[in-house]
Amino acid sequence: MALSSGNSRRVQMARRFTEVFGAAPTHLTRAPGRVNLIGEHTDYNEGFVLPAAIDRAAWIAARPRDDRRLRLFAVHYDAAAELDLDQLSPDRVQGWSAYVAGMADYLQRAGHALPGADLLIDGDVPEGAGLSSSAALEVATGATLLGLADIELDRIGLARAGQQTEHNYIHVNSGIMDQMISAIGQQHHALLIDCRDYSAAAIPLRPDTQLVVCNSKVKRELAQSGYNARRAECDEAVRLLQQALPAIKTLRDVTPEQLTEHAALLPEVVMKRARHVVTENVRVLESAEALRRGDVKRFGELMNEAHASYRDDFEASVRPIEVLVSAAQSLPGVYGSRLTGGGWGGCTVSLIDANAVERFCGTVAQIYEHEIGYAPDIYACVASDGVAVSSFEDPA
Ligand code: GLA
Repeated sequence: MALSSGNSRRVQMARRFTEVFGAAPTHLTRAPGRVNLIGEHTDYNEGFVLPAAIDRAAWIAARPRDDRRLRLFAVHYDAAAELDLDQLSPDRVQGWSAYVAGMADYLQRAGHALPGADLLIDGDVPEGAGLSSSAALEVATGATLLGLADIELDRIGLARAGQQTEHNYIHVNSGIMDQMISAIGQQHHALLIDCRDYSAAAIPLRPDTQLVVCNSKVKRELAQSGYNARRAECDEAVRLLQQALPAIKTLRDVTPEQLTEHAALLPEVVMKRARHVVTENVRVLESAEALRRGDVKRFGELMNEAHASYRDDFEASVRPIEVLVSAAQSLPGVYGSRLTGGGWGGCTVSLIDANAVERFCGTVAQIYEHEIGYAPDIYACVASDGVAVSSFEDPA
């Protein structure tokens, strides 16, 4: 069973760590999951995304060791594992410990001298829900290992090591959005991230609005879903468009007008995938401007348009998600609602008037249960800070 959240988590993590490893922990790390407000499958096309870190996170209590071993205990799985820092390679590990192994491996390859450690892992980001429980675990692991070695947190370096872990240890060709936002999130803000140069701008979320996440509980494993296939289709679009537009490197470099002009170069399906990405980049930039002005109405319209594009052109939606999105979009006080994350299940995100939350939750749950046969999980989310490592000696 997962340990409960709140300040008592620190005490509980310390107690459990001591039970499992026989000595008190020295460090505690929290790395958040995320919800993406808009900008889906744009990150690996070097485009724009607008996620927020959320108040659900991976937690690690840790203590350095004198040897080269990483001893791990995952509270959620009630399972232990052990790794050797000198023997890390993708074919030696499977399951949850692969995330830890990958991070240690890529941080070492980046030149960091890591100590052995005992790590107690817990968290409350639901798995397989599109809220980036994996990225949270990666970023938490990396930050913990750097913290134990007293190495200053290189947040972008952490995000890149997380992405390399996904590619080589987990076999998902993901972009960098999830790890970036877990590393650099800001309380009460969404971040406009340029996935070409990793620059980011924080945009405040209006306090009279609320982000609400509805979990369809349709789990999707990215490796088995269409994720890698979509990425390959985007690469194919670039390759074909380069015949007419030799200067383009990724779909980031293509405007909607250029895509229409050169549509004849692409098979229909590839054209649809490219159209989603190219128009999504435009929507992300416009929505960031709208949010900056506090124009939540326009922001919500763009969320709804993004959903239609993700469903129709990228074909990444499933029926339970459609039930959640159309229920949400039909309710008063809802500015916008869409499928968030990698696709084919997981969660929707809705931006709603803060006064409408209770009614929203009740009505959406009722419609979903009636149509799908079981209740969704619904969370009101608070945008939170990115990863932080503290010492058990610091005041809580
Ligand atoms: C997953 C990936 C991200 C991103 C999204 C889709 O969350 O990990 O890199 O591509 O899907 O926007």
